[in-house]
Amino acid sequence: MPDRALYPVPPEWAGRAHVDAAGYERLYRASLEDADAFWLEQAKRLDWVKAPTVAGNWSFDEADFGIKWFEDGVLNVSVNCIDRHLATRGDETAIIWEPDSPDGEGRRFTYRELHGEVCRFANVLKAQGVAKGDRVTIYLPMIPEAAFAVLACARIGAIHSVVFGGFSPEALAGRIEDCDSKIVVTADEGCRGGRRVPLKANVDEAAKRAPSLEKVLVVRATGADVPMTGGRDVWFHDAAAGVDTDCPPEPMNAEDPLFILYTSGSTGKPKGVLHTTGGYLLWASLTHHWCFDYRPGEVWWCAADIGWVTGHSYIVYGPLANGATTLMHEGVPNWPDASRIWQIVDKYEVDTLYTSPTALRSLMKEGEAPVKATSRKSLKLLGSVGEPINPEAWRWYHDVAGDGRCPIVDTWWQTETGGVLIAPLPGATDLKPGSATKPLPGVAPELVDAEGQVLEGAADGNLVLTRSWPGQMRTVWGDHDRFFQTYFSTYKGKYFTGDGCRRDEDGYYWITGRVDDVINVSGHRMGTAEVESALVAHPKVAEAAVVGMPHEVKGQGIYAYVTLNAGVEASDDLRDELCKWVRREIGPIATPDALQFAPGLPKTRSGKIMRRILRKIAEGDVGSLGDTSTLADPAVVDDLVENRVTR
Ligand code: WT7
Repeated sequence: MPDRALYPVPPEWAGRAHVDAAGYERLYRASLEDADAFWLEQAKRLDWVKAPTVAGNWSFDEADFGIKWFEDGVLNVSVNCIDRHLATRGDETAIIWEPDSPDGEGRRFTYRELHGEVCRFANVLKAQGVAKGDRVTIYLPMIPEAAFAVLACARIGAIHSVVFGGFSPEALAGRIEDCDSKIVVTADEGCRGGRRVPLKANVDEAAKRAPSLEKVLVVRATGADVPMTGGRDVWFHDAAAGVDTDCPPEPMNAEDPLFILYTSGSTGKPKGVLHTTGGYLLWASLTHHWCFDYRPGEVWWCAADIGWVTGHSYIVYGPLANGATTLMHEGVPNWPDASRIWQIVDKYEVDTLYTSPTALRSLMKEGEAPVKATSRKSLKLLGSVGEPINPEAWRWYHDVAGDGRCPIVDTWWQTETGGVLIAPLPGATDLKPGSATKPLPGVAPELVDAEGQVLEGAADGNLVLTRSWPGQMRTVWGDHDRFFQTYFSTYKGKYFTGDGCRRDEDGYYWITGRVDDVINVSGHRMGTAEVESALVAHPKVAEAAVVGMPHEVKGQGIYAYVTLNAGVEASDDLRDELCKWVRREIGPIATPDALQFAPGLPKTRSGKIMRRILRKIAEGDVGSLGDTSTLADPAVVDDLVENRVTR
């Protein structure tokens, strides 16, 4: 049952927020009625070397398909995130870094110090031969150098591709090769939840499968003794000795690439989502301003990892473009205990916390005591991202974590969208637990049915967007046709999000989850095809099908059906072996939560696997399997139902 409760905008918010209800209506209308004027006006929040004279120039139609924003504008992202703040807030804190262990020592960087660090990093990259347009793979833990590295790339016009430290050597190698990156920036090790992550060793492994790789720049983080390969590996501190701490910023066209970020889709290998310079930065900055109502002096904490888009847009680019103090936490929210996240809030007097429903559910399990042991009185607003937030988690966030005082800003968006698209504005939008509420200015959602018929009013359908916005991805790296086919061919002339959605009678949007073969595990996207191909790569596996299943903490878990080669015996040991295999092939986030040995998979007579049935069985909803008469062998379903597993 949807939660019908309404949480009106608190009067103090309506009065003081950047945008109130009337303001939202005005902005929204203006953004659609006179889009060019609206966006050229908004673009003034950035510092341009040459201000743009044109706003959007895009088409979602096949004949003249293409997306450009502010195409005659020239700017540098690092200047917008650093240099332009120096005169007014050079001595204020730009980055607070809190280490994994509460006993470790944190670090702080003022905007002036950040300028020096980023320039130095940029000069080191240049000295290693990196030039404008080159791809730099960044495989770092959540240490300040991760922020320095991406900003250094932006400063010299190199394109960064950050790979989450939890990905395997295999996955890293694929990402290095896909964008033909010649350099990887890594660290000796990372720390996460009290454990060490052997990043440099993973890069050594990946290098064997990535012939394009020529250089590895290694940041000393834990001080672990790691072997260095002569001619290839360079310690950052050696390369940085004597390097200039000033580096002139490269003037970039608004449409020059800023970064690539790999993300899973329903088919094939991960796609390199490409974001460009001007539109992306404007979107990151503007959405941070609108949704979280950031004000100078506040401490902002996005508890994501830089390896995901959330970290790109809301740890680094959005907040720093807005002159914020952004907190980076190396670790996880519930280690060493369930109080950790709230202790950090108290330690730095955090104003706004932005985290995921998964993190909240893992904390909820531990009860209220670890929360109530802390003050949290600095908090003014709480954000949520990554997956639908169930009303129970929403209420817990609101009532327990926020003591009923802080608006909950549930933000719907995607790697592809660059920043938030559907979310409440705290001074403008009444809240409903579980709903991402309304589209931001410039965002034009529509619900369509499977045939593409537009649904009006209260309805349930597939979520599409009929207009471009500045933060939209521009292409799939190296495969523009795949970009068009993936997002614009299902519904002609519209961007298909891959999400199902309900719109209620008040025009509020309720995202119901992916309708394609993508699983949202702990707010991270996993393509079923990827897990399947990892499984079939195992010598004992003949065939595999992977679907999502409900998971109490992760939102969705991974349920794998595996058919073994003839003569291979199924066993618990083999199940463990296969789970470990997937973990090694892709990374811990891809580890199946349940794995069932299936003598056969339900297929149509033309050989297509009927995933609908597999999903139902995984969900434990075996009473409503629907029509199985088109199956080549209906008997396989009985076996699957009978041998359903829970792990
Ligand atoms: C998918 C995008 C957004 C950055 C982190 C994930 C789901 C994301 C919400 C939300 C319901 C959400 C969607 C979307 N999703 N935020 N607030 N409510 N669903 O980025 O890995 O690109 O995944 O995450 O299904 O399509 P991503």
